[in-house]
Amino acid sequence: MEPFVPDAEISITALEKYVQILSGAQTKVWSYECQLLSGSGVTVQNLPGTYLGPIIRAQTGTKVRIYFHNNLAEKSVIHPHGLRVPEDCDGQPMQAIEPGDTKIYDFQVIDRAGPYWFHPHPMMRTAEQVMMGMAGLFNVWDAEEELAVPGASTGANDLPVIIQDRNFDSGNQFLYNPNMLWGYLGSRILVNGRANATFSLEPRAYRLRVLNGSNARTYKLAWSNNMPLKVIGTDGGLLSAVVSRSYVMLMPGERVDLWVDFSTASGKQVILKSLSFDAGGMGGGGGGMGGGGLTGSSLANGAAFNILTINVGKRASVRPALGPLPAMPQRYDASNVTNFNNPDPFTLAMGMGMTWTINGRIYEEMGVAEDEMVYRDVPIAWEWINNSSIPHPMHIHNVMFQVVRRTPPSSTSSYNTVNQGFLDTGWKDTVIVWPGEKVKIAMTFGPHMGMYMYHCHILEHEDMTMMRNLMIMDPMMPGM
Ligand code: C2O
Ligand code: CU
Ligand code: CU
Repeated sequence: MEPFVPDAEISITALEKYVQILSGAQTKVWSYECQLLSGSGVTVQNLPGTYLGPIIRAQTGTKVRIYFHNNLAEKSVIHPHGLRVPEDCDGQPMQAIEPGDTKIYDFQVIDRAGPYWFHPHPMMRTAEQVMMGMAGLFNVWDAEEELAVPGASTGANDLPVIIQDRNFDSGNQFLYNPNMLWGYLGSRILVNGRANATFSLEPRAYRLRVLNGSNARTYKLAWSNNMPLKVIGTDGGLLSAVVSRSYVMLMPGERVDLWVDFSTASGKQVILKSLSFDAGGMGGGGGGMGGGGLTGSSLANGAAFNILTINVGKRASVRPALGPLPAMPQRYDASNVTNFNNPDPFTLAMGMGMTWTINGRIYEEMGVAEDEMVYRDVPIAWEWINNSSIPHPMHIHNVMFQVVRRTPPSSTSSYNTVNQGFLDTGWKDTVIVWPGEKVKIAMTFGPHMGMYMYHCHILEHEDMTMMRNLMIMDPMMPGM
C-alpha cells in the first residue's frame, strides 16, 4: 500500500459550549469546531454565533486528512454522509472513540460536486448528539459545477439553509423529549441554529443549499409569494435540468439545491414556509395532525409554519445566472440492472414492542443477512416497502442511487398531500418512503468494499434499531 499523502489536513473537535439562541440565558450545545491545518483544495468556514457548522468545501480529487478530537464526555464518531469513503472512514457506531481520543480519517474525495454533510453516528446516541448541535456541511465542487453555477467553488452565491426543530425548557436549554412513534419533534424552527431566522438579501439570484438536519421532522417547502421552487440539485449534486415545483418535500438527511431569483421581489418580504400536509400516523392522522398532542411538541409533523424570512433589498451588486447543467450519465433500467424487474425487497414495519424493523430484522453489530451482501460494480435494484403508518427517509451509506419507480399506497388521502413534492430525477442517498408506498431504487456499489450500513434517517428510529449492516464484496471472489 502506498502511503497516503494528504493535500489538506483539517482538525474537527467536538466540544460543549454555550450559544445565544433565544433571548435571555444562553443554551448549552455540543458543537464541531474546525480548523484548516495545512494544504490546498479545501476551505473551512466556521459559522459564528451558532452551534452549527463548519462548512467544509473541497474540490473533487482532493486527498483529505481529518483529525477528529472528541472533547465530549461520551463516545462519538463522525460519519461523512453521502461521500464514498474507505470503510474505516465511514464513522459507524463501532468506530466511535472515547472522550479525549482522536480518530484520523484519510480519504480522497472521489465524488462529484454535491451537498454532502457530516454528523455523529455513535451507538444509540446519534439522535441526542445531533439534537445537541453537531452537524456540518461538506460541499464538494468540481469544474462541471463551476460552469453550471457561478461561484460554486467559493460558495459566493450560496446561502446555506440548515433546517432543524428544537424544544426548549423554561431556562432556554434544549429539551430532548422524543416520541416513540415519530421521533423528536421540536416546536421551535431553527435555521442555521438560529431562531426567527431572517436574511437580508439583494434583488438577484442565489443558490439556497437546503439540508433537513432535523432528527425527525418532515418539511413541505414553499415560497410565501407562490413562486415555484426551482430545483437544481439533490443529495448527489446537480440535476441535468431545472425542475420547477410548487412545493418540495424534505425528510431528515435529505438535501435540495434551489436556485431562487429575488429580482421581482425588490423591497419586499418573501418567506420560506412549510405547508400543511397529512403525515399519516396511527389512529388516522388526518388533517396534518401527525404526532400532534402525543409528542411533547405543540407543533405536529404536518403543521404549517414559517421557516425563514427574507427581506429583499432594492439594489443588486451582481447578477449571477445559471449556466448549463451537467448531463446525467446514465439512467438505470432493465438493460443495465440484472434484477431491475425483480428488485430485492426491504420491508419497513413496526415489530413487536414498538420496535422498528427492516425485513423483520433489527440492528445487530456484526449481523449481515444474505440480501445485505452486494457486489462492487454490479448494478442492483432494491425496493423499499413501507408497511408502517408513518413515512421513513431511507438512507444508504457509501452509494448514490436513482429512484426508478414509486408505487403509490392503495389509500391516497395522505399521499396526495405530498407526492408532487418528491424529487426523483437526480442522484439520492436518502429517499422518502411514504406509508403504504413502494419505492424502487437502483445503484452500483463501490469502489470501496467492506462493511457499511443502511438505515432510516429519522434519528430516533435509527437509534432504536431501524438500521442494518451492508457488506460490499469483490465480484471476482464470490462468497467472500
Ligand atoms: Cu446521515 Cu448513517 O447517516
Ligand atoms: Cu450516511
Ligand atoms: Cu423511520
